[in-house]
Amino acid sequence: MPIPTIEWKNNCVRIIDQTKLPLKLEYLDCHDAKTVWKAIKELKVRGAPAIGIAGAFGVMVGVNKVRTDNANTFKKKLDEVIRYLASSRPTAVNLSWALERMRQVAYHHAQVSVSRKKELLLQEALKILEEDKAICRTMADYGASLINDFDTCLTICNAGALATADYGTALGVFYRAKEKGKTVKVFACETRPLLQGARLTSWELKKHNIEVTLIADNTAAYLMREGKINKVFVGADRIAKNGDTANKIGTFNLALISHYHKVPLYVVAPRSTFDFGVSSGKDIIIEHRHDIEVLELQAQPIAPKGVKVYNPAFDVTGNEFITAFVTEKGLIYPPFASTISHAFT
Ligand code: MRU
Repeated sequence: MPIPTIEWKNNCVRIIDQTKLPLKLEYLDCHDAKTVWKAIKELKVRGAPAIGIAGAFGVMVGVNKVRTDNANTFKKKLDEVIRYLASSRPTAVNLSWALERMRQVAYHHAQVSVSRKKELLLQEALKILEEDKAICRTMADYGASLINDFDTCLTICNAGALATADYGTALGVFYRAKEKGKTVKVFACETRPLLQGARLTSWELKKHNIEVTLIADNTAAYLMREGKINKVFVGADRIAKNGDTANKIGTFNLALISHYHKVPLYVVAPRSTFDFGVSSGKDIIIEHRHDIEVLELQAQPIAPKGVKVYNPAFDVTGNEFITAFVTEKGLIYPPFASTISHAFT
C-alpha cells in the first residue's frame, strides 16, 4: 500500500518526481544538497512532512562528502548546508523543524569524531522518516473515527502518501476509514495553479480504490449548496499557537464556505506542523511563487503576455473556521488557544 515518496537508498535520497505524475512514475536520486534544494523548490518533492524528511536527508548528502576531521570545519559546513536547505521554501515549518533536529544531533555530540557525527546524522534522518510513518497511522486512526459510513468528503491539494513518508495526513483518514469497512467518497479540488489535487490526489485515491470525483476549485461552493459534502479534511503547512492554519491557497475559501453551510472542517497535521513560536496567522510567512505557474497550464500559455500575476502558494485560515485538529495526540477542539498547547505538553 505505501507509495515510497522518499527513501534513503545507495547513500542518496530517492524521491518520486511528483512533477511527472500522473503521467509517469519516475524517481530522482539526489546525491547532493543542491539537487535536494532544487527538488524542494520545484515541488518534485512537496507537502509539509515530506519536505521535512527530504531536508533531513539533504543535510546528510550535503555533509557526507565533506573531507575533514576538524570539528569546527565540519560544524561550519553543517550550518551552511542547513541554512541553504531552509531557504528553499519558507511556509512549511516541518522543513526548519527537521533541519533543527539534525543540527541538534551534531551539536549534542560535539565531542565525537566527524565520521561518527555523520552516522548519527543518518540515524536521525531515518528516525524522522520512521516517526512520520507511525504518526500518519495514528492520525489516520483518530481521523477515521470522525467518518460515518457513506460520508462524502472534500479535500484540497495533496495531503496524502505523496506529501508524507507513508499514509498521508488528510488522505490517511480516508484510507483508514476504508480499512475499517466504511464507504467514503471524496471530492478533490483540482488546486490551481499547480494542480496537486488533479494530478496527485486523484491519482493516489484511485490507486487505493477510493471513489474520487475531481472538481474545478470554483465548484466547491455549489457542491456544498447542493448538500453533497458532509465533511472537509485538509492538511497544513504551519499552524500558529492559536490554531490559525496556513495551507494550500484556496483552503481559506473552503473554510468560509464550509462555515456558511455548517459543514465541519478538520485539519489533519502532526506536532511538527505546529509552530509555537508564532502566536497567530498574521506572523506566518507566505511563499509567493513565480508568475509562470499562473500564466501557463502544462507549459502552454493561457493568458496574454505581460499580464500581471499574483501567486501566493498558501493562505491562512483563522482558527474560528476550524472544527478540530486531528493529530497524533488525538482530536483537539476549541478553544484552541489553550487546547493546542495542552495537547502537546
Ligand atoms: O505547495 P505544496 O504542494 O507543497 O502544498 C502542500 C499543501 O498545502 C499540503 O496540504 C500540506 O503540505 C499538508 S501535506 C500532508
